[in-house]
Parts: sequence; structure tokens; C-alpha cells
Amino acid sequence: MEKDLSYLHDIRKEYIKANLHEENVEKNPIDQFSNWFTDAINAKVMEPNAMTLATTSANGQANARTVLLKDVDERGFVFFTNYTSTKGQEIAKNNKIALLFFWPELERQVRILGTAEKTSYQESEEYFHSRPVGSQLGAIVSHQSARIENRSIIEENLERLTEEFKDTEIPLPDYWGGYRLTPHYLEFWQGGAQRLHDRIVYEKTDSSWDIYRISP
Ligand SMILES: Cc1cc2nc3c(=O)[nH]c(=O)nc-3n(C[C@H](O)[C@H](O)[C@H](O)COP(=O)(O)O)c2cc1C
Repeated sequence: MEKDLSYLHDIRKEYIKANLHEENVEKNPIDQFSNWFTDAINAKVMEPNAMTLATTSANGQANARTVLLKDVDERGFVFFTNYTSTKGQEIAKNNKIALLFFWPELERQVRILGTAEKTSYQESEEYFHSRPVGSQLGAIVSHQSARIENRSIIEENLERLTEEFKDTEIPLPDYWGGYRLTPHYLEFWQGGAQRLHDRIVYEKTDSSWDIYRISP
């Protein structure tokens, strides 16, 4: 390796901004998430709805990538993607997935475990048509995660489709739509001094949520 990155050892940051107490958290994790998300907006976190999505392949290989949170309510956390992509294929085999938010400006992390189901056609369609036309065309053109020879293939396809759909509504392709993760475990992490972070967990029980602290 040409570049010396041994200074990595010396990169460290003290977390000092806030504390998280059991007494002060919401009873419902979605309310707690909403509070923290609002804080992230107010703190001008660059892409507060960007989250890491973790899946596993059929042979148990973990995989992760960033996607955007597009809806959240009592039913769960929604993102949109190509169903035939690597992530789509992996979710089809194992819908037990995880999401992770990291908001460095707030020294906070939220970990979410749950099961994914496709959103309804209607929900996907509504979101699809709310996107800019360029993004709709981009979704159609890209066979996401498939190997391609070069970039000009997609650029030519984009040109062709832009012409084809110039006067008509672009139909939602059947290979594109949303997933909703229904959570059963959420952990709210607030960085603390001397690496003694606060970690509050919500774990789903039959009728409500068990809320407890875990060690940093
Ligand atoms: C900030 C950011 C946001 C992204 N949002 C999405 C998204 O909402 N949906 C999506 O399919 N890919 C999104 N991507 C691209 C994915 O990270 C990934 O490259 C793509 O979905 C293919 O992943 P896969 O091969 O594991 O299926 C985003 C990437 C970044 C960096």
C-alpha cells in the first residue's frame, strides 16, 4: 500500500453532547424515533433519512448498503428500491433485515431489527409517481446490481425511454417498489464520555414494548 494510514489509530472523538435516560424516553419506539429524527433535522444532519440496510445472502454472507427512509409510522420503516437488485433477491430469501442510522452531529445511532414485506402496489405507485420524472426513468433504465459492459448502454436506454414517455405517464415497473420493515427490536445509542455510552433498547413483547438499558 502506497499511502500510510497508520494515523487511523489516533483518530478518536470524545462524545459529550447529551445523555439518554430511561425515564425520559417515549413508551413507544416510533415516537422516540420521531423525536430523534426531528432533532436530526434541526441539527441539519446532511442526509438524516439515509440509513444502512443490512441483509444476508442465501449462504449467510452479510451485506450492507445505504438506502433512504421514505415513510415511518406504527407499521414500520419504508424504503424503495429495485426488487430484482441484490438486496431484493436477498430479502426474498431472508426477510429478517436490519436498518441503521448514524447521526454524527448528534453523536447518535439507531439500530432497528425486523422483518420486511413489500409495500402494496398502490403505495409503491403513489411514491413512484411523486418522484421527479428523471428518477422515474432512472428506475426503469437500471437493472440495478446487474453486471453491465459500460455506461453508454444505460445512457442510450435513457435517451430512448425519455423519447418514448415524453407525453405519457411512466408506468410503475413491476420490478420496482417499497419494502416496509416491521420492527421488533430498536436500540437508541447516545455517545457518552469515556466510551460509557447510553444504550436504550425497545424489544417487542406480545402486547407492548419492553424498555431496558444495555451496557455500552
Ligand atoms: C445516500 C444514498 C442513498 C441511497 N438511497 C437508495 C435508495 O433509497 N434505494 C436504493 O435502491 N438505492 C439507494 N442507494 C444506492 C444503494 O446504496 C445501492 O448502491 C443500490 O441500492 C444497490 O444495492 P444492492 O446491489 O445491494 O441491491 C443509495 C446510496 C446512497 C449513498
